[in-house]
Amino acid sequence: MKLIIAANWKMNKTRAETEAFCREIKARQEDFHDTEVVICPPFTSLEAAGRSLSGSAIKLGAQNLFWEKAGAFTGEVAPPMLVDLGVQYVIIGHSERRHLLGEDDAAVHKKLKAALEHRLRPILCVGETREERERGETEVVVGTQLRRALEGLDPALIEELVVAYEPVWAIGTGIAATAADAHRAATLVREIAAECLGSAAVERLRVQYGGSVNAGNIGEFVALPSIDGALVGGASLAVDSFAALILSAQEAAR
Ligand code: 13P
Repeated sequence: MKLIIAANWKMNKTRAETEAFCREIKARQEDFHDTEVVICPPFTSLEAAGRSLSGSAIKLGAQNLFWEKAGAFTGEVAPPMLVDLGVQYVIIGHSERRHLLGEDDAAVHKKLKAALEHRLRPILCVGETREERERGETEVVVGTQLRRALEGLDPALIEELVVAYEPVWAIGTGIAATAADAHRAATLVREIAAECLGSAAVERLRVQYGGSVNAGNIGEFVALPSIDGALVGGASLAVDSFAALILSAQEAAR
């Protein structure tokens, strides 16, 4: 299976910055033969990114969506609007949305369902906070987030699902999880997904690690059989660091 490495730019980059990045990464795409690369710019840069990446194998992803198709939902963006822009992936339930913007498990579930129904491939984020980890609740928290997200979904729709294990305490801190912690969580994700959707449905489930990933540590994660790639924040903002990260991942996964 190819690696999947996604750039979550969060609230960064104007259209001009997006175009410059995308042109440069596209020029290097031949080097990324063993990796599915996904760029997730903010909504305002999706069109520019899509145009700059067109004709390449690099995929376009959004950072969020709303679950309704259209209507009176000021400030929200509907799945068909993303499809219209050529978006193929969508990040759902990122911890910044859960913890800073009040997104709960019910909203995450509705977004996941809507994404799958519109054939957008979800990158579903789960992960515990530092306090939860210190209380020994990692498995319960991750398990609950995942069960509530997947509950009642049609297993036939699930083969496009990617789950990103992103411990909140590792995001933007420079302190990544250990490979052992990431492996434990990724294994749990696979067990719970199998429980919710059946083991046949999750055979093709891809699991990423996210949280302070860089070119120096990515190898430890993708060398694990349980981990298929990474969701990358800070190290995805510059072409050189992102490209170096992808190359290190490919080397380690070989
Ligand atoms: P950092 O790579 O900056 O820690 O961010 C991780 C993340 O939140 C990706 O979604």
